[in-house]
This record gives sequence, C-alpha cells and structure tokens, in this order.
Amino acid sequence: MTPKTKNKKISAIKGTKDILPQEARKWQRVESVARRIFELYGYREIRTPIFEATEVFEKGTGQTTDIVIKEMYTFTDKGGRSLTLRPEYTPSVVRAIIENRLYLQPQPQRFYFMGPMFRYDKPQKGRYRQFHQIDIEVFGEKDPAIDAEIVEMAARLFKELNVVDVKLLVNSVGCRKCRPPYLEALRRKASEYSGQLCADCQRKIVTNPLRIFDCKVELCNEISRGFPNIIDYLCPDCKEHFSRFCSHLDLYGIKYTIEPRLVRGLDYYTKTTFEFVSSKLGAQDAVLGGGRYDDMMKAFGGPEICGIGFAMGLERFISVVPFEEEKEDFLYLAHMGDKAKKTGMELARFLRQNGIECLIEYKERSLKNQISRANKLGAKWVLIVGEEEVERGRYQLKNMDTGLQEDITKEEMPGILLA
Ligand code: HAM
Repeated sequence: MTPKTKNKKISAIKGTKDILPQEARKWQRVESVARRIFELYGYREIRTPIFEATEVFEKGTGQTTDIVIKEMYTFTDKGGRSLTLRPEYTPSVVRAIIENRLYLQPQPQRFYFMGPMFRYDKPQKGRYRQFHQIDIEVFGEKDPAIDAEIVEMAARLFKELNVVDVKLLVNSVGCRKCRPPYLEALRRKASEYSGQLCADCQRKIVTNPLRIFDCKVELCNEISRGFPNIIDYLCPDCKEHFSRFCSHLDLYGIKYTIEPRLVRGLDYYTKTTFEFVSSKLGAQDAVLGGGRYDDMMKAFGGPEICGIGFAMGLERFISVVPFEEEKEDFLYLAHMGDKAKKTGMELARFLRQNGIECLIEYKERSLKNQISRANKLGAKWVLIVGEEEVERGRYQLKNMDTGLQEDITKEEMPGILLA
C-alpha cells in the first residue's frame, strides 16, 4: 500500500452498484417470475462465462457498433490473450451452441439466461457500467409467429409484474438482399448533411450509415429524421415477414407503433427488431429490446440456423415494477442462560428442518433486549426459551403482530407456525 492510497476511502467503481438485501428481494421476485414464464414457453436455462475471447463480440456484436468501438471492457490476460467482459449475451450463446454442437439436437431450441453485462458507457440514471440482463434466445424458427410469440411472452412478464406505461416499438431492418441498396440510399442522403453531423456520424457514413440512427447527439437525430426509411426498401420476403409479424401481434391484441428508425445499435439484426420503452424512465427509456439475427450462426462458422431473442435490463425494469411491501415472516429465538442456549440451538435446527425461518443470536442479552432486537428486525414471532421453559419442555411463543402469547411444546410448533 502506498502512503497516498492508505487513507483513501474504498468505494464501488463508477457505474456499478451494490444490491442490498431489501432491493435483492425485488430482484429475486422478478427473476423467479421470469423463470416460471420462460419455462412455461419451453425455454431452458443456459449459462456461459462472463468473459470471452474479444473476437466473439467483434464478430457477433459487430465492428461498427458503439459497443465494440468504445464500450468494451477488454484486457490482456497473463497468457497474452485478448479477453472481454461480455457487453451482451447473444454472441456468447451462439458461440456456446456451436462449441457444444447443440445445433445437432432437435430444433427449434429455446434458452434463457440472467446475469451481469459490462459496457464502458457514460454512467447516468438507468445506465450503468455493470448492469444485468434477463435474456432469451430461440434458434431454428423462421416463422414470424415466433417473433410475435417472444413479444407476447415479454408482454406477459410486464403484466404479471403490473408494469404499465410501456410502449412497444417495432421495425424491420431487412436482410442481406435488401439492406445494401437501402444503405446506399442512406449513405447518399447522409453525405448531403455530412458537415452538420457529429464526427462519429461522419465516420458512420462510410462504415455503416445505419448506425447514425443510434447517435445520441440531438442535431444528428433531428437531421436523420429526414433520411429514407428502411421499411420502403424491404424485399418481398422481408416485407411479408414483417406484415405477418404485425398481424400476429394483432392476433394477440398487442398494441405497437412502427418506428422505422429502430435499428437497435447492434450489427447483427435481420428483419424484425423491437423495443419496449417506458415513459417512467427518462432518457434511458428502453426496458427491453430484441430482434432477429438470421446470419450470426453462419458468420461464426456454424450451420445456417436462424436466431431471434431479446434482453431486458433488470435495473431499468425493477425501477418500474410497483412492488408491494413484503412483511418479514421469521421467528426470533430468544434464550437466557447456558442451558437454554443449547436447547435453543437444537430448537432452531428443528424449526429450520421443518421449513420455518428462524434467527438465533449468540450474544448474551436480557429478554427485554432480545424482544426489542426481534422487533427492530421485523420478526413475526418470538420464541422465548428460558431455564424454566427448558425444565417444563414448554415454551412461550409470542406473536409480534397481535402481542398474544401461547405456551407450546416443541411438537406443536410446526403446526402453529406453518398454519
Ligand atoms: P440491448 O438493447 O443492447 O440489446 O440491451 C438490452 C437491454 O439492456 C436494454 O433495453 C436496456 O434495458 C438494458 N441495458 C443496455 N445497456 C445498459 C446499461 N448500460 N445500463 C443499464 N441497462 C442497460 C442486447 O443486449 C441484445 N443482446 C438483445 C438481444 C437478444 N437481441 C437478440 N437477442
């Protein structure tokens, strides 16, 4: 330790945050609802490493994206390899499927995943450097019915957690066939405004003019509103896919707005893109985004299998879920004296074995003090174990809500506490 750092306060890294127990309860609730819903639709969990070879994202996320150009946490390990903390999940899943030859198993395949992602972006409300996503991916399903089904599944998640005030935006970004002529038209138009666009967008005119729509500079945004719309350039196949996708959404009664500028900041999308935005979130209003990526598996050297998926930002989502305050439901075991402590330890084990949440503390304290601790911690019950109770084999159980006290045996406890 150098003298300079000795007294410096150690704090969390900018753009990261601690999820404290009360908040973690909300995360657990969202994660468990999501898991249940995904499993209902036939999804199974897959987990991949937090870091990958850098080329996984260069190839997958795409060389012209802001993520790859500016936002990756890339480092060289002790073996001289370039590694990157995953900024998103989709390329990792594709890599894992190819590596584990999961594509040999019956198609289509549905996966879900939850975990942290890392992007070196400017931190602000709703934008972190370590954030968390709940992600789903489907492989091998070409039919636009699946595009609508995953949107319906996302809408179900919102509904079950009482999230209102979300709006669905949809678009199609075309395919290998129809995108090149569109990009040419876009390039021509953008070149006319080159002098007014930011330096980044000027570069994008050459590398990938589609990325101009991702720019956060207001003037670029205003100018690009007058650019040609991809929807007008779709080939018959993409047009048909998009119109069937929309009609399936109608079938589910899901409202949407067609947003021709929704290109979603990642290079791999083909055909469908969509995003749920919330009016409650301010500038970072995208809660969930996704789309189809029919060419990624092939580009990774795998078979020609199409993919589609979405990811939801957990921090943003949790901030719009209206949680009801959950009451604690545990028993505090108060004990006085050596003998009672031992019996208390046995009783605590017995209660936990029976599925009863039980807290016992080991510091010597008076009964009054222990009841006051139980109260502060929010215990629903206090079990009083003193020398006399041990002698009698009967214990005082106090209900902290009603103040009522009962005299019960060990055997009676599960029946009363689990009622
Ligand atoms: P994405 O739009 O980059 O898509 O991210 C999905 C969601 O993650 C966003 O809508 C947002 O809620 C959240 N998010 C993104 N960046 C941050 C950040 N810096 N801080 C907090 N939350 C953030 C993807 O990542 C694609 N992989 C989605 C996908 C899956 N497409 C197909 N399959």
